[in-house]
Amino acid sequence: MACAAHMVARMMMTLHLGQTLTFTGDPFREGPSATTHSSRGAVLVEGGRVIETGEADALRAAHPQADVRDHGDGLILPGFVDAHMHYPQTAMIASWGKRLIDWLNSYTFPEEGKFADRAYADEIAARTLDLAIANGTTALTSFCTIHPGSVDAFFAAAEARGMAGFAGKTCMDRNAPDYLSDTAQSAHDDSKTLIERWHGKGRATYVITPRFSPTSSPEQLGALGALWVANPTCLMQTHLSEQVDEIDWVKGLYPQARDYLDTYEAHGLLGERGLYGHAIHLEPREADRLREVGAGLVHCPTSNTFIGSGLFDMAARVAEGQRIGLASDTGGGSSFSMLRVMGAAYEIGQLKRNPIHPAQLLWLATEGSARVLHAQGEIGRLAPGSAADMIVLDLASTPAIAQRSALASDIWEALFPTIMMGDDRAIAKTYVAGRQMKG
Ligand code: GUN
Ligand code: ZN
Repeated sequence: MACAAHMVARMMMTLHLGQTLTFTGDPFREGPSATTHSSRGAVLVEGGRVIETGEADALRAAHPQADVRDHGDGLILPGFVDAHMHYPQTAMIASWGKRLIDWLNSYTFPEEGKFADRAYADEIAARTLDLAIANGTTALTSFCTIHPGSVDAFFAAAEARGMAGFAGKTCMDRNAPDYLSDTAQSAHDDSKTLIERWHGKGRATYVITPRFSPTSSPEQLGALGALWVANPTCLMQTHLSEQVDEIDWVKGLYPQARDYLDTYEAHGLLGERGLYGHAIHLEPREADRLREVGAGLVHCPTSNTFIGSGLFDMAARVAEGQRIGLASDTGGGSSFSMLRVMGAAYEIGQLKRNPIHPAQLLWLATEGSARVLHAQGEIGRLAPGSAADMIVLDLASTPAIAQRSALASDIWEALFPTIMMGDDRAIAKTYVAGRQMKG
């Protein structure tokens, strides 16, 4: 007893001071009033977790023993949560001139083939996570390649940095090069082994990962559906209705299916813990079913413009009551910065005559993504008990942003120029589980 008490007393408390912005509700339902802004706020951290948030003066007085880090006017936020990306595509981001299927065949598959080499997978996993930290992203959801070693590389790199990681072996047993093809059985068995090795280990969550219906046979989708039934706490991720040509192809490959979603639904791959990337061109039945089961739709705006996929209808999806997260989708997406991703979501909203409020953009990149990952309370929020994954945002990181934010009359006007024009220079500091990783 005495020893335990002694250890608790010795555990370091850190009090971070700066501007703070927290959600008290869902800004898509309640508007920007679902937030609390403090121009002199504080976040108390101990043992990698948030203990308390509040006003700086009050928390300083209550915890005089805490080590104080004063971030001045910096805005303390939860680290961004990227709900869909492909770490093996980091080295071929911004590849020119193709649309989805040609882009996969020309650029993506040759690059993913290199991940048969574990050393290369380790190198790119490390590079990707370091880019994420530099950009203020503290939790990533990644497709890996068909190689089990690519999953080990991702989770090992996340573990080394103390980061929450969500990932799985990408499964493909048709319409892919031989060097990137598995089978229904091996996809099932390799995924099962990886689940046993990684799921729930530290901050790792395994995500069962059929790439998309065109590259999986019905047998493979069925085998992965059965694996999900046997491992219901795993997430499942895939792509859905990204491009019109892709949808036509799916209809040809699965003539009996009612629509694209039905190719997943019929094989046990529709569920609350399912993450459906893009989900742009949805049929009414698909939208209904996704909402009924409470599945996660993942909006990938920088990718949707870069690959020319289409305009996600945020207003319609919100009105339906869908659960929505936000993602970079690198390397189909053209930026590692979730600020740029939020900016692109705003631009797509504008093209749909729906200006998305900065509170809503920020919510999507933090709490919204955490919710589709079923990790709310743990990541995407700074509240008592959550992981101390946080960033300090410099709201005047470039001359162009500084001259605009200097005229701001409230926090939203101060933040919006950074959302639209900011990049890694706006991320003054990144903390992962309380440990400073940038700045
Ligand atoms: N659909 C199937 N695979 C992919 C991929 O790697 N990126 C994107 N954007 N869409 C896909
Ligand atoms: Zn993707």
